[in-house]
Amino acid sequence: MSEFVEIVMRGASLEIVFNRAGKKNAITGGMYSAMADALFAAEAQPEVVSVIFSGHGAGFCSGNDLQDFLSTPMTEKAPVLAFLKAISTTSKVMIAAVQGPCVGIGATLLLHCDHVVAAPSASLSFNFVKIALVPEAGSSLLLPRAVGRLKAAELLLLGEPVAADEALRLGLVSRVVGEGEQLAAARAFADKLEALPPKALMATRRLLNGSSRTVEARMAEEVGVFDQQLRSPEFKEAVAAFMQKRAPDFKK
Ligand code: COA
Repeated sequence: MSEFVEIVMRGASLEIVFNRAGKKNAITGGMYSAMADALFAAEAQPEVVSVIFSGHGAGFCSGNDLQDFLSTPMTEKAPVLAFLKAISTTSKVMIAAVQGPCVGIGATLLLHCDHVVAAPSASLSFNFVKIALVPEAGSSLLLPRAVGRLKAAELLLLGEPVAADEALRLGLVSRVVGEGEQLAAARAFADKLEALPPKALMATRRLLNGSSRTVEARMAEEVGVFDQQLRSPEFKEAVAAFMQKRAPDFKK
């Protein structure tokens, strides 16, 4: 556990709130461990459909705690690595509500999200080179995929902040809402997921993160999951509800 991160269930969402506003929500080893434990535990809880990341105060997250960086070697047991494994392998739909500075892992975490709601004050900085580091969290792969090779090179080489409207244009955030409305908008998205078939949602998130690169290989990956879903109780319920002209109930 860490006093600097609040982790609570709200409906079918696991809400992870950075609670270190005095340090612009810089993440410590203890925070990584608490979040990784919660994310791994959620994998075994079918009632958890989504995860919402947010942060108290004027900024979402200023990245890894710089003091911690100096004192924690990047060994196999580094808490950050457990967190990175958790966010890159979770089957839960990942959502973020961001405002103010989103720096380092505060920006690369967003590349693992399926929905990102930003306040107008949000700015994303992939500032690794500026502090003599290199991209992490798979961002050297995920950022070019999201914005194209040249734009990704610019963002990663110069590390200059990307404002909310530009991030929206580039596809790094899903929506920009009014200042202070980002968490409510993220929750509204999560609430919509609750009415949908959970296994199909999670399988779709896994496919979006699939590792196969060719269309042929990806189609084979999809067909395996598609066939499972065809035989699932939730598909039977979806078809029955359609035939009976009623709303489906996937919680039965
Ligand atoms: N690690 C440790 N402490 C941090 C921090 C970080 N990543 N980011 C901010 N802080 C601390 C500051 O040292 C300051 O502490 P103090 O009040 O005890 O002096 C406090 O948080 C507020 O930061 P400040 O710089 O005054 O806020 P700001 O609004 O002017 O700027 C940022 C916000 C995020 C743009 C700026 O703090 C920053 O660039 N932080 C470093 C980001 C970074 O390089 N992260 C690592 C990426 S790999």
